[in-house]
Amino acid sequence: MANRVVEKIKKGLRGELTIPGDKSVSHRSVMFSALGDTPVRITNFLPSADCLSTVGVMRSLGARVDIISPTELVVTGNGLHGLREPETVLDAGNSGTTLRLMMGMLAPQNFVSVFTGDSSLHKRPMGRVIKPLSLMGANIAGRAGNTKLPITVIPAAGRLQGITYEMPVASAQVKSAILLAGLFADGTTIVVEPYTSRNHTELMLEAFGVELGYKGTAISLQAPEKLIAPAEIIVPGDISSAAFWLVAASVIPDSELLLKNVGINPTRTGILDVLQAMGADISLLNKRCSGSEPVADILVRSARLHGTSFGADIMPRLVDEIPAITVAAMFAEGETVITGAGELRVKETDRIQAISDQFNKLCPCITATEDGLIIRGGSGHKWQQGTCFSYDDHRIAMTLAIAGMAGSGVEIEQPDCVAISYPDFYEEMMKLY
Ligand code: S3P
Repeated sequence: MANRVVEKIKKGLRGELTIPGDKSVSHRSVMFSALGDTPVRITNFLPSADCLSTVGVMRSLGARVDIISPTELVVTGNGLHGLREPETVLDAGNSGTTLRLMMGMLAPQNFVSVFTGDSSLHKRPMGRVIKPLSLMGANIAGRAGNTKLPITVIPAAGRLQGITYEMPVASAQVKSAILLAGLFADGTTIVVEPYTSRNHTELMLEAFGVELGYKGTAISLQAPEKLIAPAEIIVPGDISSAAFWLVAASVIPDSELLLKNVGINPTRTGILDVLQAMGADISLLNKRCSGSEPVADILVRSARLHGTSFGADIMPRLVDEIPAITVAAMFAEGETVITGAGELRVKETDRIQAISDQFNKLCPCITATEDGLIIRGGSGHKWQQGTCFSYDDHRIAMTLAIAGMAGSGVEIEQPDCVAISYPDFYEEMMKLY
């Protein structure tokens, strides 16, 4: 694939952008609808490579997915106990969410399923899901001591048993896998997180009539008789996609950008808190609800940012936004210290390493630590044009693009991975030039 050159932008970002559908909610909308027995119309679906991996997997398991338009699907399942044995290997592509959640859904089934994925997904840790599912009685075999793809899920000896599981790391994917297995388990399934991660699974299970119990950061459920599918799911816009424009408009002088239809679920809005703590000029307008998810239009204007510090407690609320926040910190006066971000080392690539290796080429002000980053930003630095590698990681590619736009330009190697979460990213970016 050809490199992509992003020129420095010579004017402020002005106008409005409609933010595409949320990746996490899009995945779940298809998965959960496939467990109902009535058609669900899904609108503002994100037609990205990751979400299409989920569509492919659910079709292989017998769900009917009619694609009405790229952003509108109708999904019809065969009921909670209606999944059927797939005839082929299930390919999760680049998508950790597809793989981890589906392992939870398939562990209780009485058929064999085999998972694969791309080279990045083969490197990512799956033991964090296999371990609790095995404690419930699941029979899962993976490479490298049951931690890596390819993975085979074999029928368990009997029904899975509910457990109480204290998660060592806050992770919505692990939490969701356990809750999905709990839909089929005897007794009560309880997951306890060190900090609350995104709660889209909980909200959507409730929209499908499942009762959940909450106590502190513990969530419990019992197997329901069936899921009662809603007629419609309206996917909110993805704040993780809005993140690039929030940062770009904050640091590029003379910007005023309206980002329309952004999900503002409080388990996802850590980036707004951090940017506001750095002095960003952000207003939430027209707050409303999109099904069970809150949304707003976000007006962002350029501002003089200053450094900040944050750590483990806010991390689950902004884990995917650290690359974008790093660019904000590179332009902010003073030091930004990010700790408690060790999970970044096991994302689509090691994002701590990727950020320090690539962004330092554009402006040498970043030090990587074991579990975070120290960024000494501000006007004292001179930005230069550079050729930077995306590691085929969508969020690194998009962050490089905004850094190039705001800094002195960039040439991105392997730029096309933006299709994983934001297929129209470069087209949207070009509208702003
Ligand atoms: C996601 C959870 C997060 C996030 C990922 C999507 C989800 O991962 O990084 O992009 O949809 O549940 P972890 O659960 O591993 O933190």
